[in-house]
Amino acid sequence: MSHSATHTRTLIFSPAIRIFHWFRALSILILVITGFYISWPFLVAPESNDVQVQSYIRFAHLVFGFLLTAVTLVRFYLFFFGKSDIERRSIQDVLSVKSWLVQLRSYLWSGHLHKAGVYGPLQFVTYAAISFAALFICITGLVLYANVYHLGMGGMMWEPAAWITAQMGGLAEVRIWHHYLTWVFIIFTVIHVYMAVWSGIRFKHNSVDSIVSGYDYHKK
Ligand code: HEM
Repeated sequence: MSHSATHTRTLIFSPAIRIFHWFRALSILILVITGFYISWPFLVAPESNDVQVQSYIRFAHLVFGFLLTAVTLVRFYLFFFGKSDIERRSIQDVLSVKSWLVQLRSYLWSGHLHKAGVYGPLQFVTYAAISFAALFICITGLVLYANVYHLGMGGMMWEPAAWITAQMGGLAEVRIWHHYLTWVFIIFTVIHVYMAVWSGIRFKHNSVDSIVSGYDYHKK
């Protein structure tokens, strides 16, 4: 039987939102792995100095770091200026105490989750926080970059990077914050994947498939 006999469907995530979601997921995965390797380069016990493992891993970190930086900026732009207001509408729920109670109760299996936009208030606040964490890890990453590459883009960023380094109390602090923030992404990802699967089971729609196909299905 086709889905149209039993369900209606609505497009909730545009192609741009879906593509950027998976770009972010891929870049975060690679950045966590390569970042931890940069921090603890355990593979190298060279006989000579002609061993490039660390350089290749740092190169991959930078490529995906710049990808994440670009996606983070575009995603902020789309949130505020994208054609669909389905994400922006969730702000109404964030500002409503009742919506918070409805969401928290629905998580305890009591009542339904009614939302003005596509996210519940707790979900929205979590995504806003991780978006700012992404901004911060990109800024600290770019500061670390500017301190190693003094020409081209690194050179262009030198002055703001030096200012941020001074504000943060030195380059060691920038590096340690970049490292701490890595754990924020690891913890977020575990909870995020769990909640995406769980909410599909709990609410029977708007689950993992919607960030692939874009569609949300409702029983008729
Ligand atoms: C989710 C995003 C990211 C994660 C999880 C991440 C993780 C890490 C970690 C764990 C380190 C090692 C820090 C240490 O020495 O203890 C590192 C270093 C570094 N990261 Fe990132 N990073 C991310 C994004 C970025 C971005 C956006 C850039 C810039 C484009 C960047 C550039 C760098 C640079 C230049 C280093 C220092 C490399 C070195 O000292 O050789 N990172 N990153």
